[in-house]
Amino acid sequence: MACTGGPLSAVDADLLIVPWFKDEAASALPALDAATGGELGRALASKEFQAKPYELFLAAITDTSWRARRIAVIGGGVGERGSDLVRRLATAAGLAAGQRHVPRAAFIVRGQGDAADLAQAVAEGLTLAEFYGGGYKTDDPPPAAPPAWTVVVLDAVDGAMAAAVGAVARGRILGECSNLAREMANEPGNTLTPREFAKRATALASDAGVAVEILDETQIEKLGMGLLLGVARGSAEPPRLMVFRYDPPGAPPTPVLGLVGKGITFDTGGISIKPADKMEQMKDDMSGGAAVACAMRAMALLKAPMRVIGVVPATENMPGGKAIRPGDVLTSASGKTVEVINTDAEGRLILADGLWYARQLGATHLVDVATLTGAVVVALGKITSGIFGAPNAWVERVRHVADRAGDRVWPLPLFDEYKDQIKSDIADLMNTGGRAAGAITAAMFLKEFVGDVPWVHLDIAGTAWADEAKPYLPKGPSGVAVRTLAALAFERFDDKG
Ligand code: BES
Ligand code: MN
Ligand code: ZN
Repeated sequence: MACTGGPLSAVDADLLIVPWFKDEAASALPALDAATGGELGRALASKEFQAKPYELFLAAITDTSWRARRIAVIGGGVGERGSDLVRRLATAAGLAAGQRHVPRAAFIVRGQGDAADLAQAVAEGLTLAEFYGGGYKTDDPPPAAPPAWTVVVLDAVDGAMAAAVGAVARGRILGECSNLAREMANEPGNTLTPREFAKRATALASDAGVAVEILDETQIEKLGMGLLLGVARGSAEPPRLMVFRYDPPGAPPTPVLGLVGKGITFDTGGISIKPADKMEQMKDDMSGGAAVACAMRAMALLKAPMRVIGVVPATENMPGGKAIRPGDVLTSASGKTVEVINTDAEGRLILADGLWYARQLGATHLVDVATLTGAVVVALGKITSGIFGAPNAWVERVRHVADRAGDRVWPLPLFDEYKDQIKSDIADLMNTGGRAAGAITAAMFLKEFVGDVPWVHLDIAGTAWADEAKPYLPKGPSGVAVRTLAALAFERFDDKG
């Protein structure tokens, strides 16, 4: 992915894609209008093109001194014109250019804010458009190669141009790592078993210089992870615990960011079995784990300055003859005992052992990511992930980073009173807290395993998979949280957050 400056007439591509905001007249880019022989201005005046969100208008370039032959303006609508919108415009434009088999396309960076930030978002968005999820089709031809992209930064003085070039390279990496996570989430349960998940995650992380260790069932048992082992009991496939270590030379001993991702490669619900309708969707129940693995790769490729540990407990949740039953009591690696009320609340079980282990390995700040509850989808829908945790400074830090990375998050509370809902008569905790505040009681459960370490929990059950296509996000896995987790390794934080 290239990055160049103007003028537009010199940009060497088949198609120039230009974001266009609602109230803009053709005079906003007079040279562009002139190059189309006034066609852009006419379309704006006649309202043929109204710059509605993601609306496209194509026109030929009649000025033969220009190197490009056509332009496509893409509507940005009214409202904020920051990197969030620009990233989405780039994805929508990338999808459109790909469908039209454009060999070489250029995207003109326009919007409000720092030019490098916008250029990075454009590179991310264009790269996200390259994801293809139909790999098992044998009757459709595979998609043509995506366009070769040039990101164009107009009016950049020298320093700003160098910054934009670096930003495009970073955005490309972040987009590619998001797509790797999407590929894994898209993979069915029969191909992406816990062992295969561990193998692929090892390959993509170690290739970038991340140290990876895969613990098998015997080693997991030695660590005393009764919750992870309990969930794995119902499956013929053995569990795995992935441990990633990114230790850049010269990094200070602390902070150590600890990332923990839910890696359920298929969630049937176990003995508390799920209804058949939509159960196939539960192949993506390892999206949090994939986000952790792919974020580790991204931060190593981007040379983040901080030490990071990633922990991904991986298992199926199956109702085999050896499966745990409702009412069973399991002992966690931390020593706390759990009465399993519902075997479908398995994510919090494996995460509890994972969070404990990340602390053992020296994490000073924790973030876990999980497709944890249907309840968060009821609360926040398919647009926004739930964010929970303590202390507030750490939650706000992660929230801010997520906002900038383009992952929508919104906070839900963890008042002490919610803990009453997960008190057991027989053990320290129950693994479910009833229908009320289901996303919160799941987070309250995790909170019991983080000790005093600053901790954030992201519930991505609604955001990991798009059920309906949007102009900027096709149906399928979204790659949520990869960019947020990677960006966290570039923050400066202290004990409080
Ligand atoms: N993986 C599911 C959560 C989920 C539900 C993700 C819908 C994506 C879409 C999780 O393991 C689960 O089954 N949670 C239960 C918890 C309940 C039994 C307390 C749920 O949300 O129904
Ligand atoms: Mn479940
Ligand atoms: Zn699950």
